[in-house]
Amino acid sequence: MSFKIVEQAPARLNRSELAVPGSQPQLFEKAAKSSADVIFLDLEDAVAPDDKPQARKNVIAALRDIDWGTKTMSVRINGLDTHFMYRDVVDVMEQGGERLDLIMIPKVGTAADVYAVDMLVTQCEAATARKKKIGFEMIIETALGMQNVHEIAAASKRNESLHFGVADYAASTKARTTNIGGANPNYAVLTDKDDAGKRDVHWGDMWHYAVARMVVAARANGLRPIDGPFGDFSDADGYRAGGNRAGVLGCEGKWAIHPSQVALANELFTPSDVEVKKAHRILEAMAQAQKEGKGAVSLDGRLIDLASIRQAEVLVAKAKQIAA
Ligand code: GLV
Ligand code: MG
Repeated sequence: MSFKIVEQAPARLNRSELAVPGSQPQLFEKAAKSSADVIFLDLEDAVAPDDKPQARKNVIAALRDIDWGTKTMSVRINGLDTHFMYRDVVDVMEQGGERLDLIMIPKVGTAADVYAVDMLVTQCEAATARKKKIGFEMIIETALGMQNVHEIAAASKRNESLHFGVADYAASTKARTTNIGGANPNYAVLTDKDDAGKRDVHWGDMWHYAVARMVVAARANGLRPIDGPFGDFSDADGYRAGGNRAGVLGCEGKWAIHPSQVALANELFTPSDVEVKKAHRILEAMAQAQKEGKGAVSLDGRLIDLASIRQAEVLVAKAKQIAA
């Protein structure tokens, strides 16, 4: 290990993160009763400009009046390029009470963006003598944000998670797609002809680089990497496939832009019994190996070593966190 210790953000379950438009208060109670780990009440892109002031009022009332149970509560503020953002922070922090846990900052481009919000939040916390320290979720969804993702991830002690905002990222990079997430038939490899002259098409994952880069920046700074939206809420299989790809790369949760996606996300990001059992077997086999003075042994015909202990421990720790 490095001599540098990576400090971990406060541990929170973040398998599913349900987006709820602040302009639609009729959805709030249902969201509160859902099994989402995190809810973000949206003041940004799900709310039309004329509705912003009312949405802000709705969100403040919802934070004060609705029983959100043990959910982690977040509010997505408007971007730093708008004149809505400062009032989002000030009003929500001053009037929303203690229930808020996180602020989600969209379209973060530079570490200075995070610094600016931190300054404002710190002043509001001090002015209201808030007991609970607000954490930050940052959406990486522009080319600038992706370029600076490592500095952004390290920009504040409040940082807890990075989110891949696939829709805005596609717009910012001018990617040729109008889908929100998912695979793209044009991002594919055509194989050479086989002996019978047949060729296959293998779809690739056009988001691989972006998600993998974000995961590295998040983990190197002790933050949770979270995969963003999948727009086609009638396609559960497509959602699962995208969520699984992100999970395999290291993400620990995914957005739900529709309540039906919450259960899918919770299932995808909960280690299965089979995985947990295998992790325990690895730990047992390695404990035995260490007693015998060995650094590596074989289990089910495969090599396991000290790194296998660390992998298995991650899985077992996640299962324990969910069971708690
Ligand atoms: C989320 O905000 C996105 O743009 O995908
Ligand atoms: Mg966005």
